[in-house]
This record gives sequence, structure tokens and C-alpha cells, in this order.
Amino acid sequence: MTTAPLRVEEIDLTDERFWAQPWQRKLDALALLRREAPFASFAEPEIFPGQPRGRDYHAITRHADVVAMSRQADAFSSAQGAISLTDLPVELNELYGSLINMDDPRHAQIRRVVSRAFTPKMLARLTDDIVEVAQQLVGEVAADPAGEVDLVARISSPFPLTIIMRMMGIPTDRYDEVLRATNIILSGGDPEFMPETDNPILLFLEAGQSLRQIMLELAAEREASPTDDVTSQLLTGSVDGERLTVEELASFFILLVVAGNETTRTATSHGVLALSRHPEQRAAWAADVDGVTPTAVEEIVRWCSPVQWMRRTLTRDLTYDGHEFLAGDKVALFYGAANRDPDVFDAPDRFDVRRSPNPHVGFGGPGPHFCLGANLARREIGVVFGELFRQLPDLEVVGEPEMLRSSFINGIKRMTVRY
Ligand code: HEM
Repeated sequence: MTTAPLRVEEIDLTDERFWAQPWQRKLDALALLRREAPFASFAEPEIFPGQPRGRDYHAITRHADVVAMSRQADAFSSAQGAISLTDLPVELNELYGSLINMDDPRHAQIRRVVSRAFTPKMLARLTDDIVEVAQQLVGEVAADPAGEVDLVARISSPFPLTIIMRMMGIPTDRYDEVLRATNIILSGGDPEFMPETDNPILLFLEAGQSLRQIMLELAAEREASPTDDVTSQLLTGSVDGERLTVEELASFFILLVVAGNETTRTATSHGVLALSRHPEQRAAWAADVDGVTPTAVEEIVRWCSPVQWMRRTLTRDLTYDGHEFLAGDKVALFYGAANRDPDVFDAPDRFDVRRSPNPHVGFGGPGPHFCLGANLARREIGVVFGELFRQLPDLEVVGEPEMLRSSFINGIKRMTVRY
């Protein structure tokens, strides 16, 4: 790993080579921006060659700014797209992002309906599934005589996907199709998941359409004969009369598989990696699993910050902390950088499973878009680590994990573990 001192001018967050660097190197660069250039701007990424460039975006790296901008959703809008730094057509934003790419009042209306899938009661019902799936996946590895497997393929990846599929009532034989489509949508351009193409937009569209198609078929079945799954509830309005149209449902499903999958997958893999690299933290957690799980789960999310950034677009001219933003300016809220801000976190580069308080922004800043699935994710991560401690107490990472080359998700593609 290179340790040469960095200069702000050497940092280019738009260059994909930046994201291909070792993680620590990226953290160092983001820390430098946070200290010296908290509103630094970068060119809009080019999705395909020759595409006309839109406005530059500002990288927001201080915790206080990420929090303030997330709160001021009327000035820092999501409707021009939260998950792409490049301006995309509105239809594409809606198909892909559902409520994550909307502002109130439409956002609030859809969020009210879909929140039903995330009430404490629904979560309690889903917990049996979460425990069952975690036990099964971890059990299969424990019983595998190989003694060495890829954790991502065997546990981190199938775990959250199976939960979302069960929650929505998707038949298991569509599992591979869903996985392939989400990988393309979330690849951030990693060539392993992006088949050779000169038109990535078309690939993204096809992936979105295949998820939409699965949902349209399921919706037709559930409209004819509803069950107790979330799809039926959202379609029929069986709880309080409000419901989604089939198209709104399809787009929400795309958001769920995208938002709920790779994020939890990343947290699981990074958690195992962090415990393997910090054995004293692992011992502390293993010694009091129930007592430490709540803080450990938050620390894993802070530590790895699965989602690197979300975008906002200024709705009006605004002077913020001495910086003059113009209507139409774009900002990217860099959660991973904010989560290592020494103004907020004591020894931010220390992984501490008992860290408290831990006001991280890994699930987004406070405001209308705060992660709807945060409690589900917390439950999933807590349960899977409980199972890992129980069934694979001597689990350790072998060698270096293979990282996803993405500016958006701090993902791990492959990670060999021995037990
Ligand atoms: C460790 C796991 C997770 C992380 C780190 C994470 C992160 C985030 C972040 C940063 C946002 C904020 C978006 C913004 O402010 O623009 C968000 C929103 C969202 N997340 Fe999560 N998420 C996780 C798990 C999940 C799960 C399991 C689900 C559902 C199955 C989910 C569903 C959503 C939804 C629907 C939104 C949009 C909320 C809105 O716009 O009102 N997330 N998530």
C-alpha cells in the first residue's frame, strides 16, 4: 500500500481508479477533503463515452454537513436522483429509485404506504424467517468439510436476498434472476458484473425491467388471490385502504432489492473482516453476545458504511456555512467520510463493538429519507452474527478480500474464510 502524503489536488473522486485503491487509501483521501476542502467539487461521471456532462458535484465529507443537508430536504432535493451523480431522465429515476428519488409530498405519501411493511409487528413476524435462514446458511457452511469457503457467496449474499424475497413473496426459482439484475444495477461499473457493452444504460434498463416483470407477474397472482405477504398488503390496501398501483409496487420492489441487499451483504462481510482483524473486539462480543449486539451492529455499519454516498440537488440558491450554492448544484453526502469525522467520533479509526454514543450516518442522515429498512437490517446483522458465534466460533478471514470496484457501495466481492 502506498503511504505517500496526499494533496487535495491529487484527489479525483470521479476517476474510477480512485475507487480501485485500497480502502485505507480512500479513507485517507476523504479525511483530507474533510479537513481541507469540505465542499470540494468534481466532474459529473461519464456513463457512456461522449455523453454531454452536466454540472459538477460537491463532495460533502463533514458529519455536521451531511446531517444538516439531510435534514433540509426542501433545499436539498432527492427528486433529481439520489443514487446517480449523473442526471438521468425522470422516468428512469422513478423506475429505479421509487421513493428514494422523490420529494414530499409524493415521497411522504408512498413512504406512508410502504412503511406498513416495516412496522415492529411485521419485523417480529419476519424474525422467524431471519433466524431460520441464518441458521440454515451458517449451518450449511459449518457442515461443509472443506473448512474454507467464500463467505460472500455462501452467507453474506444469499442471506438478505432470501429475506426480501420471502417478505415480498417472490418464488425461489426467480432467485438467480433477481441476484443477477441487482448485481448489474449496483455494480457501479465493476466489469465482473457488467457484461461487455458500449451501452451500460441499456443494461441497467434491462435489469430494471426484468425485476419489474417479476413483480408484475406476482402482482397479477396476488390480486386474484391475496396472501399475507407484503406484496398483497401493498396492493390491496388491506390495512388502512391506501395502496400502491402495480407500477409503483414494481418500482418499490426494485428499490428494496437494491437498497436492502448489497447493503446488508456488505455489512455482514465487513463485520466478519473487522472481527477477524480485531480479535479482542471479537472476544468482547463473543463473551456477551446479547449484551453487545446492539452496539456492535451500529459499529459495523459506521465502520464500513456500506453506502458511500447519496446525492441531493439544490432547489434554490443558498449560502451554507459561507459557501454559495446555486439552484441546480449537486452535492454527494459521503457517509463513510462523515462516519470517521473526529469532531464527532472519539478515535474514529478504532473499531469498537461497544462504542456509545454512536451517531453514525450509515443509514443516512436524519430526515425524510432515513433508511426505511434500518431496523430490519439491524435485526438481520444481529441474528447472523449470533449464528456465526454459535456455529462457527473460530471463523477467520484468509488473505485479502476482493473488493468491489464501486464509488457507491463499499462492497466485498469475495472473501475466503476458514473455520
Ligand atoms: C446495513 C444495511 C443498510 C444500509 C447501510 C442502508 C443505507 C441506507 C441509506 C444511506 C439510505 C438513505 C437514503 C437517502 O438519504 O437518500 C437508505 C434508504 C432506504 N433504505 Fe436502507 N440501508 C440498509 C438496509 C436496508 C434494508 C434491509 C432495506 C429494506 C429491505 C432498506 C430499504 C431502504 C429504503 C426503502 C430507503 C429509502 C427511504 C426513503 O427514501 O424514504 N435498507 N438506506
